[in-house]
Amino acid sequence: MTSSDSSSLAELRVAILVASDKGARGERADQSGLELQADLEGKGARVTERIIVADDQSTISEALIRICDSGEVDLVLTCGGTGFTSRDVTPEATSHVVERPVPGIPEAMRAASLSITPKAMLSRGTAGIRGRTLIVNLPGSPKAVRENMAVLFPVLPHAMETLRSTTGVDCGAAPSRPEG
Ligand code: MTE
Repeated sequence: MTSSDSSSLAELRVAILVASDKGARGERADQSGLELQADLEGKGARVTERIIVADDQSTISEALIRICDSGEVDLVLTCGGTGFTSRDVTPEATSHVVERPVPGIPEAMRAASLSITPKAMLSRGTAGIRGRTLIVNLPGSPKAVRENMAVLFPVLPHAMETLRSTTGVDCGAAPSRPEG
């Protein structure tokens, strides 16, 4: 995958983690996770697993650690649990396991989403890197997942390329001023 290959996510290994008490109890179908999986696979990514776990901080953290430390997943997308209820703990579970925060991703997702709905500011979603795996929190509704992924998709190939690189990657950015 190269940074110019912005429409394809071929070779990308993605795990989807849905945080939902009702989903984990089998009381709600996982529409967001299913749609997200179809979208990713349609773009060439390989979804290694899609799991539904309860809105419990340790359960979410442990699942994230297991997935990231397997060394077999490039990206973990979480859905749900980013709001204000006392059971919304996905950002805390994520922050607990990431080694390098990536604030720009949730900043960009919220900024773009605010032009769609002011409720975008109610998502506390975060993002960060553990080892060679990027974790990104998405809100839970299928609509919110679609809107936030529309922001993330265009930068994913370059993000993944830089995450895998040990030597540095040409970002393709022109210098802001002519040299000399
Ligand atoms: N972001 C986008 N783009 N579109 C949405 O519809 N919904 C918001 C927000 N972010 C929304 C969004 C709402 S209503 C809530 S409560 C928060 O995400 C948190 O959602 P969650 O608790 O399902 O994670």
